[in-house]
Amino acid sequence: MFARSEAALGVARWIEARAGFGGLARALAGTARGRAWWLGAAALVAFVVQIATGALLLVHYTPTPERAFASAQAILWDVPFGWLIRLVHAQGASALLAIGITHTVLAAVRADYKQPRELVWVCGRILALLGFAAALTGYILPWSQLSYWATTIATSPLEKIPFAGATLVALARGSETVSGATLSRAFVAHVIALPLVGIGLFALYGRLLARARRLEPGGRFASQPSSGLVRDRALEVAMIATVYLAIVLVLAIFVPHIAFPLHADRPADPLNTPNPIRPEWYFLWASELQRSIPEWIAILPLKHGPLATVAGWVGELLPLAVIASAPLALLSIPFVDRGPERDPRRRPIAMLVIVVTLAVLAALTVRGSHT
Ligand code: HEM
Repeated sequence: MFARSEAALGVARWIEARAGFGGLARALAGTARGRAWWLGAAALVAFVVQIATGALLLVHYTPTPERAFASAQAILWDVPFGWLIRLVHAQGASALLAIGITHTVLAAVRADYKQPRELVWVCGRILALLGFAAALTGYILPWSQLSYWATTIATSPLEKIPFAGATLVALARGSETVSGATLSRAFVAHVIALPLVGIGLFALYGRLLARARRLEPGGRFASQPSSGLVRDRALEVAMIATVYLAIVLVLAIFVPHIAFPLHADRPADPLNTPNPIRPEWYFLWASELQRSIPEWIAILPLKHGPLATVAGWVGELLPLAVIASAPLALLSIPFVDRGPERDPRRRPIAMLVIVVTLAVLAALTVRGSHT
């Protein structure tokens, strides 16, 4: 037993001397441990669980229009414990995004984007947006009626963009309509490109966070944290992983239908549009915005003439402009709000913007879930 642990320690020292992971682990262990730390660690755990379950799904999944639905169904019904892996992956997507959204809101309230943390914020938000992209591309893979029509609905607003519309749609779908080319693109993005970029960004996030703590006035990082602290943090992350897995397993076992809503159990049929097609909760605000703005504009007493034409354009393009500018607005926050104050009680305008944004998003989500 003793010899084995000595050997393991030797291997760990050998790797450490060449890779220097321990330096980063010590740097991260030295960062302050508040609510944001717990949420960040939970996001990392959720990401690792997605990679592990995704890799297992890959063993039986086939990314072709002829086989995708049947292979995803076989994972659910025929492969031993396939149902559990698929459900944990599908519910894990929701959990990962819920953690990412909460982390973003908390960081915004605490102004965790102010100097010297601007790049920490930018990197963290790109990671959160990457989670949305992963969920979007993953949704296509089971090639169900829901996959097919949700993808058609999500990509068709691009057609309305003047001049570039047709090119953008062709880029997103790989063809004029959603097809095998769309499935191939989604598959490569989902299982290769996005996970690789995600791993790189998580590593960069760790480095940036550790460096920002060192630069911060009063940062608890003057001296190298001890290896005991690293062990304590590792135990805490293991605890977070246990709680996270317990929650996702409970969701997978007791409320599996959340992950597989209406039309998810039928194969894609391009000739038959099912009704209603409702996106996942994290995209409801965007689909509701696209429905509501033209409705509100139609109320205006503009039925004929050039003004009515302009109003028609605004109705079609405004929702797209809002959705496209949301990520940019999020990333630009550190460069707009540059004052030194971090206390939420002394930043009334920032708090007002956060509360109004959340209220609008919540109202659109609730409305979207009832239509
Ligand atoms: C941030 C990480 C990820 C998120 C948010 C995510 C999300 C999703 C979602 C929502 C689905 C559809 C689930 C369903 O309806 O069954 C899915 C399917 C799938 N994902 Fe992921 N995924 C992630 C990472 C990965 C990775 C890293 C891999 C592979 C290494 C992977 C492989 C798959 C496969 C093969 C499917 C199709 C089988 C199925 O539908 O169950 N995923 N993913």
